[in-house]
Amino acid sequence: MAKEIHEQPEVIGHTLANYLDFSAGTARARDLPFDWKTLRRVVITACGTAYYAGLTAKYWFERFARLPVDIDVASEFRYREMPMEPGGLALFVSQSGETADTLASLRYCRAQGQHIGAVVNVPTSTIARESDVVFPTLAGPEIGVASTKAFTCQLSTLCALAIMAGRARGFLSAEDEAKLVAALGEAPRMMAAALRTEPQIEKLAKNLSKASDVLYLGRGTSYPLALEGALKLKEISYIHAEGYAAGELKHGPIALIDENMPVVVIAPYDRIFEKTVSNMQEVAARGGRIILISDQKGHEEAGITPHEAIILPEMPSTITPLVYSVPVQLLAYHTALHIGTDVDQPRNLAKSVTVE
Ligand code: M6R
Repeated sequence: MAKEIHEQPEVIGHTLANYLDFSAGTARARDLPFDWKTLRRVVITACGTAYYAGLTAKYWFERFARLPVDIDVASEFRYREMPMEPGGLALFVSQSGETADTLASLRYCRAQGQHIGAVVNVPTSTIARESDVVFPTLAGPEIGVASTKAFTCQLSTLCALAIMAGRARGFLSAEDEAKLVAALGEAPRMMAAALRTEPQIEKLAKNLSKASDVLYLGRGTSYPLALEGALKLKEISYIHAEGYAAGELKHGPIALIDENMPVVVIAPYDRIFEKTVSNMQEVAARGGRIILISDQKGHEEAGITPHEAIILPEMPSTITPLVYSVPVQLLAYHTALHIGTDVDQPRNLAKSVTVE
């Protein structure tokens, strides 16, 4: 897992280079069997971590391309009998390309006359073979049961697709496209910088390893990352963790907050940062132990003194889901190491879930 976390700047670079022309400032994919312009919506289906990548993509497709996205976990989608207008685009996100529920959902969409696109890491997989178009993630083989580099490569691929869609549909100008492409081009370097927080994370994980419950909060594209952070911690450390949209705090989970509750807040300084500040204040007022992952500006404007501060460089908001994944993964990894669990082969889990 450590190796796969550390490979991310490199594999993200490869994946991005497959979809982006950095000198032209454009995003591209060849031989698409559909036209972005005529699509009325996109359906995204996946499981686990791949689902959280898809949930992040919903924010990008809707923002860059004004293209509504329906997203569901494949185990629900496959039995939901969703009505679908023929000619729509259904995207399936999967590292292995063999996940049973994702494959069953793909076959349902095929029967409903959808164009089938797969964001997969294993190009010879069943999902890749049964798709009309494959958008490969170039993470290389992912062996650790807990997905890390496949996740950030899925994010890179999906972000490039959303930019392509935005440009093709006329919601992004050539200048907007070039800016977004340049922003993505910064991701490998920023991820390398994020990896340098590891010694600090290793230390603070010692305390976290004593917790019995951990809450993760985020807004916007940091919300799916909060869900992913909680999943990662559960999977490899066996500590109970929940991810929540920060704005949902008042609707229930705030009742859990006391001085024993670590709260990981993922909050880059962005246009909704202020909203997250008020949630942090609610947590701080109840004695919650905040671990704030933000940039320098965010830490200055947070208005609270967190229990632990993880400071990342300032960066374009488009790439924060990729870069902030790194400390989130390291936090789970080092917490599990302190506890002494097997991070590569966590109990009860298989790398690929090929049966229901
Ligand atoms: O191979 P897939 O991406 O389709 O797998 C989906 C999930 O089973 C997978 O992401 C799982 O949640 C991981 N163990 C997460 O770390």
